[in-house]
Amino acid sequence: MKIVAVLGSPRQKSNSTTLARKILEKAKEFGAETGEFVLSRLSYEGCRACETCKKKLDHCVIEDDLTAVLEAVREADAVVFASPNYFGEVSGQFKLFFDRTYSYLNADFTSRLRSGRASVFVFSQGQTSLNLYADVHPRYEMWLKRYGFDSNYLIRMNGPRAEGSVSKRSDLIAQAEELAGKLVSGRP
Ligand SMILES: Cc1cc2nc3c(=O)[nH]c(=O)nc-3n(C[C@H](O)[C@H](O)[C@H](O)COP(=O)(O)O)c2cc1C
Repeated sequence: MKIVAVLGSPRQKSNSTTLARKILEKAKEFGAETGEFVLSRLSYEGCRACETCKKKLDHCVIEDDLTAVLEAVREADAVVFASPNYFGEVSGQFKLFFDRTYSYLNADFTSRLRSGRASVFVFSQGQTSLNLYADVHPRYEMWLKRYGFDSNYLIRMNGPRAEGSVSKRSDLIAQAEELAGKLVSGRP
């Protein structure tokens, strides 16, 4: 079983990255093959809206550092998508990546990816109230379902916003470890 993480935070001691890595670490202990992509270390552009992926190719025409990321997500059995909350949205780095997943869709908007896979969305914010930004994951989940991610999990870190503050959130670390077990066992 292959699990990859797409990491949307540029921070060294990122809260979302820490939680995503915790899932990978535990999944590896359970026997999974794991990999990660730190988007801020890559060089890539956003979707050009050229529609080549609808008219001529079954993949994105742009060849840059996201090519390997898009391929890995396409092939993985489970994917961890991690991002900080920037102004009520995912980070710019993550949004550029997600726009390029447009290439996973056929011209009629059916998916080119196989179904029966799982995703975890890790979303960290500075504000303590989880009522804030509750709209973000459902909007991405709608597309993830279309891409064949049938089981979708969510971990939300709600403050404090300082780098590394997730180390005090044993509840979230336990949630990450528990989710790793679910991903590897394939039991939602
Ligand atoms: C540019 C920027 C915008 C942010 N906007 C918000 C926001 O709108 N709401 C919020 O709760 N936190 C906001 N934050 C705080 C981050 O979401 C918070 O620090 C989070 O833990 C970062 O995750 P990371 O450690 O994985 O990068 C913002 C931080 C930055 C740098």
